[in-house]
Amino acid sequence: MKEAKIHWENVYDKKSYEDASWYQEIPETSLRFIKELELPKTSKIIDIGGGDSNLVDYLLKEGFRDISVLDISEKALVKAQKRLAEEAEKINWIIADASEFEATQIYHLWHDRATFHFLTKADQIQNYVRTLENSIVSGGFVILATFSANGPEKCSGRTIKQYSKEDLEKLLRDKFELLRCENIDHKTPGGTIQNFTFCYFRKK
Ligand SMILES: C[S@@+](CC[C@H](N)C(=O)[O-])C[C@H]1O[C@@H](n2cnc3c(N)ncnc32)[C@H](O)[C@@H]1O
Repeated sequence: MKEAKIHWENVYDKKSYEDASWYQEIPETSLRFIKELELPKTSKIIDIGGGDSNLVDYLLKEGFRDISVLDISEKALVKAQKRLAEEAEKINWIIADASEFEATQIYHLWHDRATFHFLTKADQIQNYVRTLENSIVSGGFVILATFSANGPEKCSGRTIKQYSKEDLEKLLRDKFELLRCENIDHKTPGGTIQNFTFCYFRKK
């Protein structure tokens, strides 16, 4: 098993979501951005590195019917499935490394909060961006949230890559137009403030 997968399986074995630094009872910024996109309820949505985040619960409540959640950790997805009980059957669960994943369908929205920034090698970043570019319908959207230049340098004990608005714009500008970018302070359950670059783009 790859080191990253071992790490994340271990994290989800030991930690409840409420204790994780990235915990959000309500994923407010993601939900606000998704509302602004005015997507039809039939839109295909994928949450990359969704883990056992509550976003999927809110998307179901909003009436979205074609939701995929991808994560490197099977344990994370099993936790989310248990929480959702029979509602879990409505979701397409994908156990995969986001830097190697080959999408088999086209999405209208790609959402990633605090996963992309764990990819620190150039080839991982290139693969992720290539899949992202190829997997979103023209006119579709990507919401990307990473630690900012004023944010932490590590998460879950792992080195991350910080991005400013300009960094993300440069990375995606060939195929995507930046529509909104905000710096968002996230308060961890331990009370620490983590600054995120939270943006959304439309595919040209
Ligand atoms: C900081 S957590 C964020 C979880 C969730 N997005 C949220 O906002 O609550 C990072 C998540 O990314 C997953 N992850 C880390 N590296 C990954 C990779 N290469 N491919 C897919 N998932 C990955 C982890 O298992 C974990 O669930």
